[in-house]
Amino acid sequence: MSERGAERVVVVGGGVIGTSVAWKAAAAGFRVRLVDAAPASGASHVAGGMLAPIAEAWPGEEELLELGTASLHRWPDFADELSRASGMPSGLRREGTLVVGVDAADRADLDRLADYLAQRGRTVARLTGRELRRLEPSLGPAVRGGLEVPGDLAVDNRVALAALRAAATAAGVEFVPAHARSVRPGAVELDESTVECDVAVIAAGVRSAELHPGLSGRIRPIKGEILRVRARGTALPPPSRTVRGPVHGRQTYLVPRDDGGLVLGATQHEVGFDTQVTVGGVRDLIADAEQLLPGISEYELVESAAGLRPGTDDNLPVIGHLEAGVLAATGHHRGGFLLAPLTAEAVLALLRGGEPAAEVKAADPGRWGGHQ
Ligand code: GLY
Repeated sequence: MSERGAERVVVVGGGVIGTSVAWKAAAAGFRVRLVDAAPASGASHVAGGMLAPIAEAWPGEEELLELGTASLHRWPDFADELSRASGMPSGLRREGTLVVGVDAADRADLDRLADYLAQRGRTVARLTGRELRRLEPSLGPAVRGGLEVPGDLAVDNRVALAALRAAATAAGVEFVPAHARSVRPGAVELDESTVECDVAVIAAGVRSAELHPGLSGRIRPIKGEILRVRARGTALPPPSRTVRGPVHGRQTYLVPRDDGGLVLGATQHEVGFDTQVTVGGVRDLIADAEQLLPGISEYELVESAAGLRPGTDDNLPVIGHLEAGVLAATGHHRGGFLLAPLTAEAVLALLRGGEPAAEVKAADPGRWGGHQ
């Protein structure tokens, strides 16, 4: 039981963040309902699942690096608990990540990244193209150099989502298949009814901004298209590590799955709530992936999809009180899977009336100077 009795918590949003929060809160003794008309069908369903705060670090985003690193450290225990609680695999892959570059400008970017990481106390090994191909023989001759980041991991998003739902259900979470219209202290308004609660948690990704005035104008959709491919009999097998590149300046990644599959991602466009896959997006994804992995042209094309990342102006998520009785756990942009363990832990601490880990302070909505 929670220290404060079986308080009623309503989580709005059934993606990786909402389901993680609901599971952890229910397991801690809160009475939890999760409201979502179509759980696990938004950005979390489309995600690559990189857990890569080092490979995705960039100067100026120090707080995000600290948040991401803190959450990555929690992933192995989170995954073990998830497997135990759900009786299902967690989807965590521990093979590590390579960051690779193709042209001189890409390699200059990687040098900048390596220098920056060294300044932040996170030294990464620089490898030549030949050394990279020794680790991952499927990498093509266009790959000229890169960085080895063994601690950056990956997770199969769909395996993890299935396990999270099972764990949440086993912990007593009640799933409410409805569309939430707004959230205020004490109640979540649905299309046809109202759900009363002691605390509401907004974890609705790109839809969060329309649910509470404290988030209005703060979260915007950033479209990402991905492809799912799978190696066929005659083709070179995919890399075992995640491969992330700049390819001629475009951010590209290949994230392996346990079944010989690979997620190729991702485009990045600000075009409102558009989730259609475009011909140009597919062309760019394939062209960039072929630079890194020439054998991919022999792979089976399994799926194309697009999702909407919930972006904020400073690329930090929003985790904390919007007002008494209303918590935000949203705005995770490119890092929903990475930041799920730390976000769930932080929300649980706040539900218990305590303080989240120090790194989470940067994500508090109070940074906008709103009501606290
Ligand atoms: N985390 C990768 C992406 O958002 O594309």
